[in-house]
Amino acid sequence: MGKSEQRWRRGMSRRKALSGLASFMAASPLLHAQRDPWPLGPHRRFLGFDEMRDVFDFEPIFRANVPLAVYDYTAHGTESEFTLYRNRDAFDWVELIGRGGVDPAAIDTSTELFGHAMPSPIMLAPTARQRDLHPDGELGMHRAATTTGTTMIVSNASSLPFTRIARGAEGPLWFQRYATREMEPNRVALGDAQEVGAQTIVVTIDQQASYYERDLHVRHTGGAPRRVTRREPQPDAPNPYRVSAGRLWYEWSLFDDLRPMCEVPMLAKGILTGDGAKKCLERGVDGVIVSNHGGRALDYGPSSLEVLEEVVEAVAGRVPVLIDSGFRRGSDVLKALALGADAVCLGRASRWGLGAFGEEGAQRVLEIVNAELRQAMAFAGVASLAEIDRSIVKTNFP
Ligand SMILES: Cc1cc2nc3c(=O)[nH]c(=O)nc-3n(C[C@H](O)[C@H](O)[C@H](O)COP(=O)(O)O)c2cc1C
Repeated sequence: MGKSEQRWRRGMSRRKALSGLASFMAASPLLHAQRDPWPLGPHRRFLGFDEMRDVFDFEPIFRANVPLAVYDYTAHGTESEFTLYRNRDAFDWVELIGRGGVDPAAIDTSTELFGHAMPSPIMLAPTARQRDLHPDGELGMHRAATTTGTTMIVSNASSLPFTRIARGAEGPLWFQRYATREMEPNRVALGDAQEVGAQTIVVTIDQQASYYERDLHVRHTGGAPRRVTRREPQPDAPNPYRVSAGRLWYEWSLFDDLRPMCEVPMLAKGILTGDGAKKCLERGVDGVIVSNHGGRALDYGPSSLEVLEEVVEAVAGRVPVLIDSGFRRGSDVLKALALGADAVCLGRASRWGLGAFGEEGAQRVLEIVNAELRQAMAFAGVASLAEIDRSIVKTNFP
């Protein structure tokens, strides 16, 4: 037997090498960082409505109900989706300290924002095109919100015009706006929204130029909501290779222009630094939403939970601080409240509920997260939101 054959005999077989690699990957902390259930993974069959136990149960049903393009539009984050996953990882880095001693039945989650009483600090984040998820669309989502006493922020990109949603709305209603560079369309949109009852205006400033690679790689053709066709390079764009220049013009002075158009409180959504929050306050903003758009804005940015305290410190109680991005469980909500948030908004969680079972599904999602919040508060030994403080958590952010 020649030398090279000897080496081959003694060397690791392909099978061994692969099995070694698999064990290495399985033990890798990278894989273990994300321990949430995943779509279809833990299920051997589809669960029925009465079997829904936590928010993750809704995702596979939603996924099975809609075209892949619609599922991907909800699921994806920007580019490598680092921030998308970090939003969930961040909850692993905050420990809850269980002191107990509180009867869950005695727990009070009520609060107040901008003079409006709310039974819970859990709200609905603005998310686009809800009729793609279920025919109930934003009308069903808003009814679910009303039934559960939840405040809903209606997206600028809703399937139905805000005025139509407002006509059927009984519960609280906020309006979110992506500002246009020309101020006249902003004036009209904000005027119309306030006329039909918008109680606050949320101005989203973080999604300046995002790019979802999943759409391209799966090559969704036809069908809603995002028809991805081959786009020719645009020679005049700052980056001609598919990077949108849509909102790259945003500057802080935008708030100077929009403030006089708002008779109701105006919030800035997409704040991730203390400095950004201070700039908003200098320009008359009445509240901030700490958000990275659910990992759909700038990839490789931090999770919103990690930067929450910095923003809370900068704001120093002058205006309410809300947060979203990655919230799925009541314990997630409690962690944010302990780190100083006044309210927490659910994005994808509410879309999974609506997409799985329509209005009833969205309602059940809200009921579940609220029940989980009460349970987590009982474990932590806090009977009301006023009793929640930094002492019930320990942070281990990297
Ligand atoms: C499918 C989808 C559509 C969204 N549309 C909007 C929108 O129209 N306006 C907006 O301000 N934010 C939008 N967002 C961001 C949400 O308001 C929120 O910041 C994000 O969903 C929070 O992260 P989560 O989905 O992990 O909860 C959207 C998010 C998703 C997932």
